[in-house]
Amino acid sequence: MDRSEVRAAFAALEAHRAQIAGARIADLFDRDPRRFERFSVRLADMLFDYSKHKATSATIQLLVALARAAKLEERRAALFAGEKVNVTERRPALHMALRNLTDRPFCVDGRDVMPDVRDVRARVASFAQAVRAGAIRGARGEVFTDVVNIGIGGSDLGPAMAARALSPYMSPKLRGHFVSNVDGADLGDTIRSLDPARTLFVVSSKTFTTQETMANAASARKFVADALGEAAVADHFAAVSTRLDKVAEFGIRPDRVFGFWDWVGGRYSMWSAIGLSLVIAIGPEPFEEFLRGGQDVDEHFVSAPLDANIPVLMGLLGVWRRNMFAESVHLVIPYDQRLARFPAYLQQLDMESNGKHVTRDGAPVATATGPFVFGEPGTNGQHAFFQLLHQGVNVAPIDFLVAAEPTDADPVHHALLVANCLAQSEAMMRGRSRAEVQAILKAQGLSAEEAASLAPHKTFAGDRPSSTLMYRRLDPRNLGRLVALYEHKVFVQSVIWDINPFDQWGVELGKELCNRLAPIVQDPARTTEGLDGSTAGLIAWRRHLSR
Ligand code: F6P
Repeated sequence: MDRSEVRAAFAALEAHRAQIAGARIADLFDRDPRRFERFSVRLADMLFDYSKHKATSATIQLLVALARAAKLEERRAALFAGEKVNVTERRPALHMALRNLTDRPFCVDGRDVMPDVRDVRARVASFAQAVRAGAIRGARGEVFTDVVNIGIGGSDLGPAMAARALSPYMSPKLRGHFVSNVDGADLGDTIRSLDPARTLFVVSSKTFTTQETMANAASARKFVADALGEAAVADHFAAVSTRLDKVAEFGIRPDRVFGFWDWVGGRYSMWSAIGLSLVIAIGPEPFEEFLRGGQDVDEHFVSAPLDANIPVLMGLLGVWRRNMFAESVHLVIPYDQRLARFPAYLQQLDMESNGKHVTRDGAPVATATGPFVFGEPGTNGQHAFFQLLHQGVNVAPIDFLVAAEPTDADPVHHALLVANCLAQSEAMMRGRSRAEVQAILKAQGLSAEEAASLAPHKTFAGDRPSSTLMYRRLDPRNLGRLVALYEHKVFVQSVIWDINPFDQWGVELGKELCNRLAPIVQDPARTTEGLDGSTAGLIAWRRHLSR
């Protein structure tokens, strides 16, 4: 692919950056009283405010020109048309079909996948409804009170994040649990207080070969069989996978198995049957609202002009910071305790997708690619790592997420939460100059000398960029919108960098080496010869400690 137009667009942006680098974000507001209206976009009740970025209309025009040079519109059309955009695995990435609630077809190899999607969606809904209503019960006729999802990565993070986010929508009669880590403490701590006769396990794994999930599923199976007998296993397990043959080998009843397809990437799969545990927890109707939120964003992404298109702007502003200001970290701070797992979910979505060093055709990338993604809910983060964000020498752009109204929490608390969120983005942008600090200190009665010596410590450089997404409340539809916005943001950036966001070869080497090391770690009689000195030394030290 000829990338000369992209290189030219990057060069134009670089020249522009040099021109505006000295302009402070706060001054851009002074120059333009309508800046907020001009640098914010609405999608239903959700508002994306990007006015606190170091960006002018010219910046946005140049970023949109970069997107056009990278053929964003054509690549977006290919994505939605079901073309094999995942070039290394020769598959489409058609997760948008999973949240399509219209009559519109979505085709893979010329075949409409929607009838299959609707069929599985209906089976998931009816199974979930029957578990919730107590019509499907355990082997001893007990109603299920606990549902344990066993999965990892994309088979865990999305549903676990959403179950927490949507906890007010959860049935009070059911508790949801998510077990992912191969560390036996994860499953052990979860099942310790559970009654096996009232527990349903959902084994979620696209491949049904993932070491962690298979180990946890085997131990959960033993937990049920030891307590209730081998015959009870069939009544206490369900599975979600693309590998129906492997699920059958594990012994899960065919009517408890929910499939999906290889054109659904793991980290894009929460819209599929991978959401089963979530559907059991919140019910099929709220889950459909979640899908509708995703669909809202798909419609917006394909139809809104590029300069008024939220995921396009999110992606381009990320490129602006990553490539023009060399910032390697991107912060996501939800002012919402129930979005506590949202940053972890985004870490997989963003870093597994765009943490790449070669282009789609295997050449080294010409620019930096995906940033480290990191975050914690506000206000907690303020009392932990915000010091560095305000006064550290590295700058990281921040996404603030906040609901206008609480879902069910105290409105007085919520007003404080919103005020904190706004105060932080204002402080990041404005900062406080040394002269301002000295004036404040003198007004507090400090001598000129004391004020001068303390002032550097109390000075804030400011000019630190952020975006804010504000929506009415964290309901299923807005959660669906949030997830789909970030999915498409990641896609937009992958197009600019010309990388494949749908594969994840980087996770393979560690898995392979673990398979080689596991027998040596497990069996002290095995030799460590041939291993590097550190690995052999650590195994020897472990053997010594475990003697
Ligand atoms: O380790 C990476 C990964 O392959 C993810 O991409 C995936 O979401 C996760 O493992 C779990 O895979 P599976 O659903 O096949 O168990």
